[in-house]
Amino acid sequence: MSTIAQKFSLAGKVALVTGSSQGIGFAIARGLAEAGARIVVNGRDGAKVAAAAASLTSAGHDVHQAVFDVTKTDDVEREVARIEREVGPLAILVNNAGMQIRGALEDFSDDNWRTLMGLNLDSVFYVSKRVVAHMIPRNSGAIINICSVMSELSRASVAPYTASKGGVKMLTKAMATEWGRHGIRVNGIGPGYFATELNAALVNDKQFSEWVGGRTPLGRWGKVEELQGAAVFLASDAASYVSGHILYVDGGMTGRL
Ligand code: GCO
Repeated sequence: MSTIAQKFSLAGKVALVTGSSQGIGFAIARGLAEAGARIVVNGRDGAKVAAAAASLTSAGHDVHQAVFDVTKTDDVEREVARIEREVGPLAILVNNAGMQIRGALEDFSDDNWRTLMGLNLDSVFYVSKRVVAHMIPRNSGAIINICSVMSELSRASVAPYTASKGGVKMLTKAMATEWGRHGIRVNGIGPGYFATELNAALVNDKQFSEWVGGRTPLGRWGKVEELQGAAVFLASDAASYVSGHILYVDGGMTGRL
């Protein structure tokens, strides 16, 4: 019978976190590393990936790099196979890579819609399908998809993002349904408002920040470190019977009108 500390440990597990050179992805990668995982840092920008990996390595963690665009299926195919061959069997996948483009829906360009959907939603399918091809024979794996409070709620000016995150929520549940028979758990984390590069314009907007404080029961923006516990839990054996669940880390925002 393992202790609760052993249940939360990720020792000996390899984790790929997409879009982990900064922001939420980097914080989650650090949290998984601190729980013992061997981390593969991913991003499109080699310099940013190298800097993030160096930061985690200097903290004493076991870190590898995989520079590829998660929207390019040939690159995904090649890099997932290389990670499995050179780093080790992937036990954990965090689909975090995402972007935001704000604007009135009626003025939103078709190209921007396609670009945003490609990264926020399509890539979750592309990367998960390649990784799960290796997880299925092992009858084990944990996938975490980064959703959003916008998987449940909308606000004006981010309709395409909202649609993409609604899709990620339902894809998470569908993956859990299809892959549970292979011992693979699939869950989501739904961040509320966190001060990241993606939200810099909002953080610097006094009126918007006041709105976040008033709309959030805990009365403040989240700190990216506050997402680490949810990620470690859902990736670990402590969540061995949790699948198809979206864990909102949102200061209570989705719990109130
Ligand atoms: C916005 C923000 C949000 C947050 C986050 C909330 O413009 O409202 O970008 O979408 O980034 O996704 O969970």
